[in-house]
Amino acid sequence: MRLVIGSDHGGVALKSRIMHFLEQTRPDITLINIGTDTDASVDYPDFARKGVSVILEGKADAGILICGTGLGISMMANRFKGIRAAVVHDVFTAEMSKAHNNANILCLGGRTTDPELASTLVRTWLETKFEGGRHQSRIDKLDQD
Ligand code: RB5
Repeated sequence: MRLVIGSDHGGVALKSRIMHFLEQTRPDITLINIGTDTDASVDYPDFARKGVSVILEGKADAGILICGTGLGISMMANRFKGIRAAVVHDVFTAEMSKAHNNANILCLGGRTTDPELASTLVRTWLETKFEGGRHQSRIDKLDQD
């Protein structure tokens, strides 16, 4: 699996932590880091756009995007057709974001997500399977004009 990962300055520390976690536990995942990689102030819409582009160009299967709260970066990501970005706060929302919404981008908050919990949220989202069925027809409606 190819996973694009990106953040603004508010999410850069959590991004490093998640990358380390995935490198240690998921050798089957190829990580594509699109930055930012310092705590210098940047604009989250730019990194959302960059991350989304990698998915929409078919160079990644899914992504993780992080800003201070997960809110701004998810708002931007969700402006693109085919993208389902979910901000999750606990194991239940991480699970549902995949099982029911088939989220292809997981969003977290560098200032709001407990760093200890973050790896559990990422693992839950990665390992949960989309249930399909009635949920497929619902997510199809997300992309209707
Ligand atoms: C940047 O200070 C902050 O506003 C951003 O990381 C994010 O939380 C926006 O939603």
